[in-house]
Amino acid sequence: MLVPWTQYLNSNHFYLLDYVFDSSSTQAEDINRLHVYFLFAAAFILFVVIGCTVLVLLKFRHRQGVDYQPKSLSQKWEILTIGVPMLLVIVFFVLTLKTMHRVLPEVNGRKPDVVITGHQFWWEANYPAQKVITANEIHLPAGRTILLKLLSADVIHDWWVPDFGNKMDLVSGKENYLWLNIKKPGVYHGACSEFCGAQHAGMQLTVIAEGEDDYEKWLTSHASLPAVITDTIAQIGEKLFTEKTCGNCHNISGTSNRGRDGPDLTHLASRKTLLTGLIENNKDNLGKWILKPQEIKPGAKMPDFKMDKQSADEIVAYLSSLK
Ligand code: CUA
Repeated sequence: MLVPWTQYLNSNHFYLLDYVFDSSSTQAEDINRLHVYFLFAAAFILFVVIGCTVLVLLKFRHRQGVDYQPKSLSQKWEILTIGVPMLLVIVFFVLTLKTMHRVLPEVNGRKPDVVITGHQFWWEANYPAQKVITANEIHLPAGRTILLKLLSADVIHDWWVPDFGNKMDLVSGKENYLWLNIKKPGVYHGACSEFCGAQHAGMQLTVIAEGEDDYEKWLTSHASLPAVITDTIAQIGEKLFTEKTCGNCHNISGTSNRGRDGPDLTHLASRKTLLTGLIENNKDNLGKWILKPQEIKPGAKMPDFKMDKQSADEIVAYLSSLK
């Protein structure tokens, strides 16, 4: 059945195009605008080149008794064929510099709203003003310009959320910055886009953009300690967590567990996913992860503690209560 072509623009057939040009941040708007200019210029050049080729083929095709002599181009044509490409290069050079300046202006001493640290193979998000630290599900405010500071704890990672347009490396020993103005609240998916080791492909990224009220509410809840554990199994799990030295790598605020090499677990139960979004955050998955981490995410830094099922269940009960 024939459908009007305009219908395709709203259908899944163009999802890739839609994805590329979806501007969910003002930075993406700028980048995509430049991209469209490039596309038009490239299409124009393509048509001119094809047009000239066809013209030459028709005009100088072999004819009986006609002998073409090579002729040098007139100076006027030479100026035109060198001048137009030069002009295009200059125009796009200036447009690119202007876009870069708008997307990535100077930091000028402004304090970052969020410090993102890339680890093999997860993300830490630190909100210095509110003293909040979380991992993997990164909450950001929508509707205002924020500054992210990007660091790496080990190798080079790369922050890329396609909807936001801009991407930036996280390099050990170097501070990189990224400006972001997310237009609408929503959940945005991205991934590490610099090969960083065995689980590079498993280093996904989730940004939860929220309106000002929801964002403030989230910050306030995460700045406070989780509720006191009352469940007896969870209490056993809390003790086990420390005994099994989980706290050497994981921080849980308000306890003696202060590790920073693994994700902060203070409010783990409030996250929707585990392992940078690879699996849903539920008791079943958390138990499997603790028992067989290397089967679920081979190459991750989480060691296999050869724990018995009961201990794992008790620790799961504890972690699941950390809202
Ligand atoms: Cu981190 Cu690739």
